[in-house]
Amino acid sequence: MLDLIIRNARLREDGSCVDIGISEGKFAEITAGLSAPAHETIDAMACFVTPPFVESHVHLDTALTAGEPRWNESGTLFEGIERWSERKATLTEDDVVRRATKAIEWEVAHGVLHIRSHVDVCDPTLTAMRAMIKVKQSMAPLVNIQLVAFPQDGILSSDTVPAQMEEAVRLGADAVGAIPHYELTREDGVESLKIAVGLAEKYGRLVDVHCDEIDDEQSRFVEVLSALALRTGLRDRVTASHTTAMHSYGGAYASKLLRFCARSGLNFVANPLVNIHLQGRFDTYPKRRGVTRIKEMAAMGINVSLGHDDILDPWYPMGCGSMLDVAHMAVHAAQMTGRDEMRTVFHMVTDAGARTLYLGTSYGIVVGNPADLVLLDAVDELDALRRQSAARVVISKGRVVARTTPAVTTVSLGGSPHGVDYAR
Ligand code: FE2
Repeated sequence: MLDLIIRNARLREDGSCVDIGISEGKFAEITAGLSAPAHETIDAMACFVTPPFVESHVHLDTALTAGEPRWNESGTLFEGIERWSERKATLTEDDVVRRATKAIEWEVAHGVLHIRSHVDVCDPTLTAMRAMIKVKQSMAPLVNIQLVAFPQDGILSSDTVPAQMEEAVRLGADAVGAIPHYELTREDGVESLKIAVGLAEKYGRLVDVHCDEIDDEQSRFVEVLSALALRTGLRDRVTASHTTAMHSYGGAYASKLLRFCARSGLNFVANPLVNIHLQGRFDTYPKRRGVTRIKEMAAMGINVSLGHDDILDPWYPMGCGSMLDVAHMAVHAAQMTGRDEMRTVFHMVTDAGARTLYLGTSYGIVVGNPADLVLLDAVDELDALRRQSAARVVISKGRVVARTTPAVTTVSLGGSPHGVDYAR
């Protein structure tokens, strides 16, 4: 007796419809015309089924603080850091837990079940990290949350931050961060990367660096991080986030750099909503888009995934937790509008994200894996991207954790009122 059968779900691989049997939180059988009895049945109505979305980069400790105490009026990264330093002074654990939990609910409602959150560790009391460890533990049965010890103000900005980083790792951070372009000098930036990678080696953690998040074409820390990933053997356990300066590199340098990155196995995470919003702020016209070269990297086989970065915080006054929203911006900003390119962008918010988070083979709709899936109100990836489809049903480890009823609109233009159908 199965616990749950999802009937008539449309697979990504070939568009065929199958029944998915779930037992004890795992995929038990995936086949057409499944005849086994089950305690519960869900009719997927030929909706597209996908493994859960992966949020590769978000800051849950800062989420939902936009306007507190003041709004970021210039829209720059640097005013965002100033506004956050004001808000940070008033943090409590309960405050962080409440906001992060709400943001996670938004993401789960949109089909996200794996989240990598950076957490600012420049506060000597590590209030945000302690709170986020509680959130991670309480969510663990249903939502997988990774935490990155992230030094927002720079590792070498104060004598105490290196020790705070190490304490955050000891407390339970899954990955070590850095922000080399925000250190006082180029040399400090290089040193900060060595410290971060050294900590990851010492404690067996992953690495995820805010790397070259600036429009300055002279900001060149990706090459340092890539070399460290190669030389330490950490390779694909290392991720470069943002890398917006790559948007401004000359072709010759970018070409050489990406070949080296392909060799080292470095993962990249772009945050197109926030990159296009924060970057180019010091340009007149033409204004740069500031999104790193995801199209070229994907074509080279480099692993690229996507994140929100910010949700309603000092750096971004929008966001509601939908990875389809993030992917939609990537399609436009990176001009990835070819049919295969759009499929590649969908891959960036699912399988490629799983690779960045180092989830291994437990991710995916395969017999024996944890029964995690999303039924989208769509026929395929392209349809989901175009319509920003609702996640009708979200299942984590065999349990329904979110349901959305898609909106129904009726039009009356002289003839008889009828429902709007967005299919061609
Ligand atoms: Fe970030």
